[in-house]
Amino acid sequence: GMKIVHSIEVLQHMLNRDERIGRTVGFVPTMGFLHEGHLALVEQARTQNDLVVMSIFVNPAQFGPGEDFEAYPRDIERDSRLAAEAGVDVLFMPTPEEMYPQDGGIRILPGPQATALCGASRPGHFDGVLKVILKLFNIVDPDRAYFGMKDAQQLAIIETFVRDYNLRTAIVRVPTVREPDGLAKSSRNVNLSEKEREEAPVIQQALQKGAALFHTGASAEQVEKEVAQYITEHSSGRIDYVSLLAYPELTTSSETSREWILACAVKFEKTRLIDNSILSVF
Ligand code: PAJ
Repeated sequence: GMKIVHSIEVLQHMLNRDERIGRTVGFVPTMGFLHEGHLALVEQARTQNDLVVMSIFVNPAQFGPGEDFEAYPRDIERDSRLAAEAGVDVLFMPTPEEMYPQDGGIRILPGPQATALCGASRPGHFDGVLKVILKLFNIVDPDRAYFGMKDAQQLAIIETFVRDYNLRTAIVRVPTVREPDGLAKSSRNVNLSEKEREEAPVIQQALQKGAALFHTGASAEQVEKEVAQYITEHSSGRIDYVSLLAYPELTTSSETSREWILACAVKFEKTRLIDNSILSVF
């Protein structure tokens, strides 16, 4: 059966190098309130590794003042059941005190990739993500770690961190899992009102319209404008950003880039949703 571990020391003992000789470890870091997006990461991890470790940790370091750290949905009982059913071998659920007992003031800072998209309205957010990811990677020492394209900026920054700092873990990209109506699955969807939930699929529809326009040769500006306008006209959501950038560089222009991202963030009454579409140039 699945083992549940709260202590870093116990986990490190369990996953120590000698005991796992010849066995690979796949790692799925999450903040819990699991849904099929998270479970798709587990599924892929299972096919590629002998052992699957999942972490559930609502990481205070990546929430800014006034953001939803306290209100972030939590359900440990349900999560444990879903993780076990999905085939997680070890579920790591540390407390904030376990993860951050001390602060010596050393910081890990992302580069310019973190100033685009969500970085503009969430200063310091990706510092907190890199902080927890480095800690988790050092604790779990995974062979592979699985991240969803739903959070494409996070994935791009983590890939760059791993490449530039020679972390030994291979990063695996997993496609976004969606509701039947196209809304990207997210733990935050429960914070939408009934009316907002009905409107939310326009985000994905708008991105698809934008993608089609992009393929006709329209400029980034035209594409961004079209997407923003469609969302504003068909929902009560307010646009945080709509942006077309080279991926994974997240710059406005890149001559070598063959992949682009069309990404947006939309604010509703109690929650802010993000989504994106990757556009290939052939
Ligand atoms: P969380 O939002 O719980 O997401 C955990 C992982 O699940 C991320 O890699 C995310 O991209 C992926 N995911 C979420 N929704 C998805 C969907 N609809 N389809 C596919 N994958 C999806 O992202 C975080 O937690 C945190 O920032 C974390 C990386 C754990 C660091 O604290």
